[in-house]
Amino acid sequence: MEIRIFENANELALAAADIFATQIKKNPASVLGLATGASPVPTYNRLIEMYKAGEISFADIRTFNLDEYCDLPKDDKNSYYTFMHENLFNAVDIKEENVHILDGNAEDAEKEAADFDAAIVAAGGIDIQLLGIGNNGHIGFNEPADEFTTGTFKVKLTDSTLQANSRYFDENPMPHYALTMGVGSIMAAKKIVLIATGPAKAQAIHDTVKGEVTAQVPASILQNHADCVLLLDKAAASLL
Ligand code: GLP
Repeated sequence: MEIRIFENANELALAAADIFATQIKKNPASVLGLATGASPVPTYNRLIEMYKAGEISFADIRTFNLDEYCDLPKDDKNSYYTFMHENLFNAVDIKEENVHILDGNAEDAEKEAADFDAAIVAAGGIDIQLLGIGNNGHIGFNEPADEFTTGTFKVKLTDSTLQANSRYFDENPMPHYALTMGVGSIMAAKKIVLIATGPAKAQAIHDTVKGEVTAQVPASILQNHADCVLLLDKAAASLL
C-alpha cells in the first residue's frame, strides 16, 4: 500500500483526479470503478473541470459504481444513481449506456448482482477503482463481518453505517439494505485509489494500514492488493 498525505482535502482531490485523468488519457476506453459519499465529490469536481478544459473525455469511458441502496426510488435525491448524475455524469460526455449502477429495486437481487459481476468481466475488468471508507472500515457497503465477501451481493447495513449516513435522509427513512460489490470484486480491480478525509476516518485508516488483515475491518484487505494507493488528509492520517 502506498500512502500519500496532503495538507487538505482540496490538494488530495487534485492528486486523485490526476491519477484518473492519467488513466483516461492512457486509455480513453478505460473501465472506472466509482464511489459515492462526500469524500469523492471534490475529485469529481476536478475531473469535470478537466473535461471542460478539453483535457479529458468520457466519450468512451465505461463506469461501474460500487453500490446502491435497496428500496429507494432510482430518482430519489439520496439514491446513488442521482448522486452520480448530479456530481459527475450530467456534466461530462459519458454515454448513459456505458454507466453501470446496480438496481436496488430489482425483484431478483441475486440475478441483478450476478449480471453486474458478469458485466464487469465482459468489460475486461476495472482499470481503476475509487474508494471511500466508512467510519467502521467498510468499503462499498461491505460491513465488518466474520468473513470477507466475494462478488456483488445484498447486504444489511450496520447501525454504525445507518447512523453515519442518516444525516442525508430528512424525508424518506434511510434504507436498511443495499446492493454492493463484494470485497472480491473490489480486489479484482487492477488499481485501487482510496481517499479519506477528516478526523472521523482516522481510526479506520489506522486499522486499515497498521492492523491485521481482518474482515472486521474490510478495508484492511487492501494491504494485499498489488497496486493500491491511499490518499489521506492530515486529519485522516493523524493516528498513523
Ligand atoms: C457510504 C458508501 C461508501 C463510502 C462511505 C463514506 O457508506 N457506501 O462507499 O465510502 O459512505 O462516505 P463519506 O465519504 O461521505 O464519508
